[in-house]
Amino acid sequence: MGGGGVRPELGQVPETALWTLWHRAVEARRPDTVLPDPKAVELVGRIDFPFAARFGENALVSQLQALRAACFDREVSDFLTRCPRGTVVGLGDGLETQAWRVDNGRAGWLSVDLAETAGLRRTLLPPDERRRIVAHSVTDPGWMDEVDPANGVLISAEGVLMYLRPREVRDLIAACAERFPGAAMVLDAVPRWFSRRAVEGKLRHGHYQAPPMPFGMDADQRGLLATAHPRVTDVREVYPEGGRPPLSALLPIARWIKQRPSVVALRFAES
Ligand SMILES: C[S@@+](CC[C@H](N)C(=O)[O-])C[C@H]1O[C@@H](n2cnc3c(N)ncnc32)[C@H](O)[C@@H]1O
Repeated sequence: MGGGGVRPELGQVPETALWTLWHRAVEARRPDTVLPDPKAVELVGRIDFPFAARFGENALVSQLQALRAACFDREVSDFLTRCPRGTVVGLGDGLETQAWRVDNGRAGWLSVDLAETAGLRRTLLPPDERRRIVAHSVTDPGWMDEVDPANGVLISAEGVLMYLRPREVRDLIAACAERFPGAAMVLDAVPRWFSRRAVEGKLRHGHYQAPPMPFGMDADQRGLLATAHPRVTDVREVYPEGGRPPLSALLPIARWIKQRPSVVALRFAES
């Protein structure tokens, strides 16, 4: 896979959008996939990039990435059941194809990403009436002006907060709670040991070295997210479900490990 017409030239952090896309596509092309994602497979075919040589192939990593994306899909689907015409904001959206996996034909989708990545998304997934793209750092509250809060808001921060500094993560959650009362937010975090290794430049997948990840949070620290703002009223972990054996048997046991990646759903009070 990989070898189509669009040739991306991305810096170290924006390039991570290709890493997650690649793993979702590798998983999606399996007949027994845990996350059907034909759009991801299509995109990888249209991008001229040596995905396998750069990122390697690791079926376990791909399955875990897909199960993480499925956690976000469940939260978004629940939100769209409550708010069918709501807006899903993808912070650091990269080339996430969720808006094709769980779309209901009525929701609004707003992708927020750095200029380089947003530009690539625009080329590959051109915006339309319901799916918009804005080039903004998520640390710049300017993106919030682009959100229509009228029919409900869910903010999804999938695979992005680890690239921010801890203070920026706290400020971002506080700003979202302040600006979008009643909204939901779903985010994920790598554990602290993983963040440390990335910062030390010791995180390698084959030939690929992951960028620094200054923000790490162990799974049992999620309660701290509530201290970002008084409107953060509900903090709930979203556990991966399903998977293929033996991973399917191991995941429920892994819940007892505190130093593991986690997906967390937040709710912001109305007032
Ligand atoms: C690992 S990728 C995840 C992409 C997508 N959410 C997914 O799960 O496939 C990280 C994304 O975060 C974006 N990103 C990193 N720092 C950012 C920032 N300060 N503001 C906006 N986007 C950022 C990168 O450009 C990249 O698209």
